[in-house]
Formats: sequence, C-alpha cells, structure tokens
Amino acid sequence: MWYSVYSVLFLALVLLSDFGSGQVTELTPENFDKLCSSRLCLVEFYAPWCSYCQRVDSELDLLSRSPEVKSVTIAKVDGSRWKLLRKRFFVNAFPSFFLIKDSKVYRFVGSHKANHIRSFICNLTDAEELPSGFFENPLSTFWKTLSMLEAINLESARWIRNSRLPVYGLAWITCVVLIVVLMFVGCVLNVISSFRGRKPQVKND
Ligand SMILES: *[C@@H]1O[C@H](CO)[C@@H](O)[C@H](O)[C@H]1NC(C)=O
Repeated sequence: MWYSVYSVLFLALVLLSDFGSGQVTELTPENFDKLCSSRLCLVEFYAPWCSYCQRVDSELDLLSRSPEVKSVTIAKVDGSRWKLLRKRFFVNAFPSFFLIKDSKVYRFVGSHKANHIRSFICNLTDAEELPSGFFENPLSTFWKTLSMLEAINLESARWIRNSRLPVYGLAWITCVVLIVVLMFVGCVLNVISSFRGRKPQVKND
C-alpha cells in the first residue's frame, strides 16, 4: 500500500520537476533518460563537497531565469553519488557541463559564467562534440541500457526495503525461483534426450 503511495508521490515529483520552468532539475539514473536524452538539456555534474560548484550554482540560477534558455531543461547530477552517470559522460572534474542537442552531446570547455554558458547553449561556443561511438557516446544504446539496469536495481532495492518482507519470505522466493529453474533445466534435458532416442536402432534378429 505504502509502496504505491510512494511511487505516486515520486511520479508526481518527477512530473512537477519536468514541467517547472526556471528551475534546476536534480537527475538520477532513474529519470536521466526520461528527462534529458531526447530534448534540449544542459547537465551539470557536481559534487556536494565541491564548494566551487556551489558558487557556480548561483550562475546556473541566474541562467535558468533568462528568457533565451526557457525551452532548455537545466539539470544537475550528483557525480559523487551516481558513478555510472559520471562514467557515461567521462567526467573527470567537477563541475562539468554538457549540452544535449539534436541527439548529440557537447562538452563545455569555457569559463563558468552565466553569459558564457548561455552562449554555449544558444550558439555552441566553447563546445566540444563527443564522438559518436558505441562506448564513447553517452546517448548510445550501451550506456542507456546500463543506466536502465541501474534504475531497475535501485527500484528493486527500494521495493525490498519498503515491502518489509521477512527474511524467510525472501528465502521462499529463492526456493520458487530455484524450482522453476530446475524444472526448466529438466525440460531441456528431456528434449535433448528425446532427440537422442530417435537415433536409428540396429535390430539383430
Ligand atoms: C548567438 O549569436 C548571435 C549571432 O552572432 C548573437 O547575436 C547572439 O547574441 C548570440 N547569443 C548568445 C546567447 O550569446
């Protein structure tokens, strides 16, 4: 029951942050691809312990209120927490800025002033396009799949925490899974042996 209430609240939060303009959205592996992959999106990777990032945040606030970037989703990723997202974008310093535009990813190499970031967004100044390879490009199927798996992992961990399933409940589920797997293996062996059985046999009369 609580689980469904939580998920409705979570969904409402995601939707609200989705449609709120002039705000900086916090991204996780669970909402990254939904909110950022297929639209104009500026992503900042930061770390909570990086005090310089906090100063840059005031520039981001300034930026998010300027009319030229109204249609742009401005978002942040806690790079110290979400390591896979950090690896996905090959982030090796905080803060790092990326622009996702027309299914391409650009790294920002200019200085962290609101007007410089604005011309990065509008005119792609100080931009470095990321290569389009399977492993090199953050929007590739490879990285999307990895993020999806991480999201499933987070969701199931939350489910187990919220369900208050007793330990023997988990053991019970494991038993059922084992029985199903064994039955499947048994069926496969059966099919294999039935093919063997069809070998022509020599009759010695
Ligand atoms: C983008 O470039 C155009 C033409 O050079 C310029 O007029 C405009 O101010 C630039 N926009 C930003 C946000 O720097």
